[in-house]
Amino acid sequence: MYHIISIRDFERSDLDYLLDRAQEFDTGNYRPGMLDDKLVALLFFEPSTRTRMSFATAMARLGGKSISVDSVEASSIVKGETLADTIRVISSYVDAIVLRHPKEGAARLASEFATVPIINAGDGAGQHPSQTLLDLYTIRQSMPVDGIDVGLLGDLRYGRTAHSLALALSLYGVTLHTIAPGGLEMPANIALELRERGMEVVEHPNVEEAIRELDVLYVTRIQRERFPDSASYYNVASSYRITTDLLDGVKERLMILHPLPRAGEIDPAVDRTPYARYFEQARNGVPVRMALLHEVMR
Ligand code: CP
Repeated sequence: MYHIISIRDFERSDLDYLLDRAQEFDTGNYRPGMLDDKLVALLFFEPSTRTRMSFATAMARLGGKSISVDSVEASSIVKGETLADTIRVISSYVDAIVLRHPKEGAARLASEFATVPIINAGDGAGQHPSQTLLDLYTIRQSMPVDGIDVGLLGDLRYGRTAHSLALALSLYGVTLHTIAPGGLEMPANIALELRERGMEVVEHPNVEEAIRELDVLYVTRIQRERFPDSASYYNVASSYRITTDLLDGVKERLMILHPLPRAGEIDPAVDRTPYARYFEQARNGVPVRMALLHEVMR
């Protein structure tokens, strides 16, 4: 059975294969109705717009159907049911489960009890592998990923998209530039793992210092929901913002990406520059998730 839990489970060849498949789906090179006898459960125990709707769209475009649970409150977890029992039962209804959960490790745990494939749609501050695939896909549309300079800006402590993406980029000889407010740096274990994988990781005190070196600037929001209290959030809130002034002298091919939602980190005026690629990035969620769903259920 083919679970999608963590980027750590993938070789570069697996990622390249999935990206090539996504491109086929993107260009219409697939048989409509490929999943027309399949049903997927979308279990979202945290809010989502893009991930949930793009998985549902991808399933519909392949002829399949989806059922969903959109909150803990709407499920029997509020009555004390465990995730393990929930997954065992839903496994008997559907052909695959897409799970978003606030606890890191939840998708891995679910995969131990599931009798159908699990796709991790974000587990707390852990990983968000399908987001990483669409991030790589978006970069690859403009430039080869190999050897480029990528800046990760924002909440690198709690930001699961940053963790997954950094691990994936380590397979492509990328130089990683990290820029995080105090206390929100990349966890030491991940930074060590990246260096052990041979990645050059350069820390910068601010985005101004790094931006002219970058081919990709990946901006993330501060993950307010993961902070222990609001005071610690307000200590770092609004500590960085990408404006058009910052873009003077950047590389012509610079791409600004953001997994979205944004919460003030990018001035809307930046949307009108050629560097802004985050809406295209969100759009790429559909072909990438078509490839993933087809792969786990074929
Ligand atoms: N990028 C992302 O995961 O967005 P949603 O939280 O809206 O799914």
